[in-house]
Amino acid sequence: MERWDALEAKCRDCQACPLSQRRTNMVFGVGRKDADIMLIGEGPGMQEDLQGEPFVGPAGKLLDDMLSIIDLNRSNVYIANIVKCRPPNNRDPMEEEQDACIGYLKEQIQLVQPKIIVALGRIAGARIQHPGIRITREHGMWACRNGIWHTTIYHPSALLRKPELRPETFDDLLSIREKIREVGARI
Ligand code: URA
Repeated sequence: MERWDALEAKCRDCQACPLSQRRTNMVFGVGRKDADIMLIGEGPGMQEDLQGEPFVGPAGKLLDDMLSIIDLNRSNVYIANIVKCRPPNNRDPMEEEQDACIGYLKEQIQLVQPKIIVALGRIAGARIQHPGIRITREHGMWACRNGIWHTTIYHPSALLRKPELRPETFDDLLSIREKIREVGARI
């Protein structure tokens, strides 16, 4: 736990990019610190900034519903974001902001040691899966790197805006459940 505490303290004190100047709370992560499944979003929104926890706004409610379809919840996965401070007006985090923050996420991944990483949305997919990812074509596809299976699915905010994407996401969730079984991930 010492490494976790040290990392969280480092994030709390971080001033590596201008997003730190405007934050109410740094949003570190939530869930099981030795989870086999890790979910990675883009960055905190207004509610997350206020509460200091990822995915607690409207997109978070939908994320919880999505997870429950495949028997996952906040206590059997670990959830974090590419950037830990809220970008103003919920704009996409800029490359430089992501660069300043990504080291913290990498350290979280090293500590969690997940078997499966699910990126939520294009921004996380571009960082986690591969740069230039085309989410419309590549959502739900799997790649194994360094012994960790990676996939990207639509961000719950996108599913709130475009409910027509939900059936495809349902299939992606089933493929995550299948991968959980295949690799014997603990839930
Ligand atoms: N969207 C994200 O990508 N992350 C959050 O924590 C909340 C909304």
